[in-house]
Amino acid sequence: MTSRDTNLQQVLDLSRGIIAHSGVSAAVAAGARVFGRLEHPGTEVAVAAERLPACQPAIGAALSGLAACPSPLPDLASAFAAVEAKLRWTHRRNSGTLGARFRDGHGNAMLIGPGGIEERSDVWVGATVMAPDITYPDHDHPPEEVYIALSPGEWWNAAMDWTEPGPGGIIYNPPGILHAMRSGAQPFLALWFLPID
Ligand SMILES: [Fe+2]
Repeated sequence: MTSRDTNLQQVLDLSRGIIAHSGVSAAVAAGARVFGRLEHPGTEVAVAAERLPACQPAIGAALSGLAACPSPLPDLASAFAAVEAKLRWTHRRNSGTLGARFRDGHGNAMLIGPGGIEERSDVWVGATVMAPDITYPDHDHPPEEVYIALSPGEWWNAAMDWTEPGPGGIIYNPPGILHAMRSGAQPFLALWFLPID
């Protein structure tokens, strides 16, 4: 049986359902890879929790918005809020080259994976927060990636125009594709899931 923190397990269970019912076949397949591996919990780690300037009030605002959304988003917001208190939010690598506005307006946190509260190498689960009117720069990486939007905000990739999935919506990025995301007038919060081969 799982020895995972109850709130982290709840975040995973609800995310698994959202992705499985997304109707996006590539995301459903990627989700099956991610959550299949996560049925075996990794090593729980007590990281030194730390927030960044971008976290407040953006995370609270996004989670308040989710509380008014249909099920299961209020439960996901509650579980994530409990998990978030244990996370170490960090600047993106090389964020200093992107200007003070980006550096102060963005944060990443690993839930599961290197630096996360569950250490493992076969799956990464993380979160991104951004203040209003911030664009996360174009980037790519070999693993495919599924995002769950926890707020308003837009995503782009080289095969897709800018798209707003809305809270609870998902975005799938195939392996290696160039992609980006941006906040509008409201703060941005999203979860991401990558199977690491
Ligand atoms: Fe990415």
